[in-house]
Amino acid sequence: MVNTGKKTIFSGVKPSGDLHLGNYLGALSQWVELQDQYDCIFCVVDYHAITVKQDPADLNRRTLEIVKHYLASGINPERSIIFQQSDVTEHTELAWILNCVARMSDLNKMTQFKDKAGENQENVSVGLFDYPALMASDILLYQTDAVPVGDDQVQHVELTRTLARRFNQQFSEVFKIPEVVIRKEGARIMALDDPAKKMSKSGQGAAGYIALADTPEEAEKKIMRAVTDSGDSVIYDKEQKPALANLLTIYSLLDHTPIKDLEASYRGKGYAEFKHDLAGVVKKFLAGYHLKFNCFRDEDVKEILKQGMAKAQPLARETIAKAKRAIGININR
Ligand code: TRP
Repeated sequence: MVNTGKKTIFSGVKPSGDLHLGNYLGALSQWVELQDQYDCIFCVVDYHAITVKQDPADLNRRTLEIVKHYLASGINPERSIIFQQSDVTEHTELAWILNCVARMSDLNKMTQFKDKAGENQENVSVGLFDYPALMASDILLYQTDAVPVGDDQVQHVELTRTLARRFNQQFSEVFKIPEVVIRKEGARIMALDDPAKKMSKSGQGAAGYIALADTPEEAEKKIMRAVTDSGDSVIYDKEQKPALANLLTIYSLLDHTPIKDLEASYRGKGYAEFKHDLAGVVKKFLAGYHLKFNCFRDEDVKEILKQGMAKAQPLARETIAKAKRAIGININR
């Protein structure tokens, strides 16, 4: 990336499960827009995926798939850096240094760890506990200004800020303190079978989410089976009609139609007609998405990752060199 004077954005997706419509609407499609204003770095964070058990062949396949999702969504490798975390070894190197800055009490506060480990805290990997230090390393290596994430990751970005400040204070000003960018209002997509839960690849059964790899017909069935609320008028009311509000949000974002206009066009019509039309919108979106996704061959993706690595590495090296010097390592070279 040439130095354009723009601010830097960093974000990443773990190759550990199927991406779904919530990932697209809440993250990928918004990242595409950020490319206009920022220098963007989008990583496939494979070292994060192995904090829980992964099948090696699946991990490799999914890594390439995440890149295809980035590209199909409209992320442009000519403008943004797309790379694989493990290709830039400075990520794990800085993570170790940050491990020595982080305290047990910092990591013990992380609610995602408690949720994920549940009753099983003694048997999950140390990596799962330590994951936020690696995430902090990802962000800080690139002197990132802003990190777009979902609300489940805000605490990790706050920890990143804490570690950066502590390091800067204890040693010298090495790291920029990154800001969190919370996704746009309305882009938090909920599960189709339970509007109280976020749409997620791990949280529910397949009926709750529409995978970006679902066939248009599978997606249609899921929309038709999605829970709705009592009553029959199509109006956006998050409190009284959370399921419908979620479906209206999906419709509005995919069809680029304001919710107000949807409410107006469904006045006097019932849920059935609305869902039928929404199913059509989702089907059309997925068909177009698959066409784009399938254009990219594994060879193309590998080449993009190689070029991304070549762009990311010098940036990471500059920061790690400063960090090492600050703590008294490699000073004489
Ligand atoms: N932890 C993030 C998630 O689960 C993924 C991630 C890893 C990330 N490193 C990051 C996101 C750095 C933003 C910045 O979604």
